[in-house]
Amino acid sequence: MRHVLTIGFAVALAACGGKSKGSEQPTGPDKPLFERLGGQPAINAVVHEFVATTGADPRINMFFTNVDIPKLEKAMDDHICSITGGGCTYAGKSMLDAHTNMKVLQKDFDAFMDDLEKTLTKLNVPAREKGEVLGAFRGMAADVVGH
Ligand code: HEM
Repeated sequence: MRHVLTIGFAVALAACGGKSKGSEQPTGPDKPLFERLGGQPAINAVVHEFVATTGADPRINMFFTNVDIPKLEKAMDDHICSITGGGCTYAGKSMLDAHTNMKVLQKDFDAFMDDLEKTLTKLNVPAREKGEVLGAFRGMAADVVGH
């Protein structure tokens, strides 16, 4: 009886060892933000919902009249891919060039960020990734506001 238990324990240990090695594969917490968000399809879904949200927000939707929305979405898809470690090449304008002469005020930027936060929540982006996306956008404020 004791012998059987010993063998059982050894098998359990071996299974455990295999598992812990597996958890070092790219499902770990230190994968690039791009992958933790769910890759390009998830980013495209966030961008699509976000653009619809800003377009329906009377605080800032006047900025988006006369804008080619599919083109804007594609640029945002690529831009977010590139800044989150997805390895895309973003061929669009710099954030400063894209927003120069737009006269975005701080209050406009705040509304934009509020819409982004709501979108990430609506699409169930987890807290850590949500914080990182919001932080990345906040870090670009100086290129967007006041030009
Ligand atoms: C950090 C925050 C922001 C990021 C990362 C961002 C990102 C972008 C990107 C990638 C583009 C496309 C550039 C291109 O044409 O190649 C763009 C364009 C644009 N952005 Fe932003 N944006 C930000 C904030 C804002 C805010 C606060 C507003 C207005 C309230 C705004 C309004 C626009 C508009 C209207 C365009 C289209 C310009 C055009 O095609 O004529 N953006 N943005």
